[in-house]
Amino acid sequence: MALLNIVTYPDPFLKTTTRPVKDINGDLQQLINDMAETMYAAPGIGLAATQVGIDLSLLIYDIAPRENGTDLRVLINPRIIEAEGDVVSENEGCLSVPDYTADVKRSERVLVECVDREGRPQRIEVDDMHSIVLQHEIDHLNGVLFIDRISSLKRGLYKRRIQKKAREKK
Ligand code: CO
Repeated sequence: MALLNIVTYPDPFLKTTTRPVKDINGDLQQLINDMAETMYAAPGIGLAATQVGIDLSLLIYDIAPRENGTDLRVLINPRIIEAEGDVVSENEGCLSVPDYTADVKRSERVLVECVDREGRPQRIEVDDMHSIVLQHEIDHLNGVLFIDRISSLKRGLYKRRIQKKAREKK
C-alpha cells in the first residue's frame, strides 16, 4: 500500500471529467487500497480518484464513526439517477480544498447506480450525511468542487486567501 498525493485547489486537474472504469483488474484494486490508505491517513470521509490525479470514475468513502472501526464503501462508475428534496449541507469541506468550509445546497435524498469493486451492479438510496457525501464525491468525478456550488463572492475570497498563502511560501 502507498500513500497518494492529494491534488488541491487551484490545480486544474480537479476540473477533469473522469472516464468510466472498463476493467476491474488488479491495478484498480491496488488503486482502491491506496486511496483508502490515503483517505484514512488524511483523515477524510471520502475520496474521489480525481483527487489523487486519476481520471477514472471511482470513489470511496467511509462515514462510520471511527470508534466502530472501518466500513469502506467503493463505488465504480456511479451515477445519480434520482434526486429529491433540498437541504443545506453545513460546513462542507474537502481534502482538496484545505482550510475551508462552507454551507452548500444539496439534494436531500439521492438514488445512485454504480458497480462495486467486485463488479456487481448496485443501487443505493441514501439520505442525510450519506447522501451529501455521495453528491460531493460524484461531483468530483464530474470536475466539480463544493466551492463551485457557493457564491462567486465567497469563492473569490477563498481563492485570494489561497493565492496569498502560496506567495508567502515562496
Ligand atoms: Co472533496
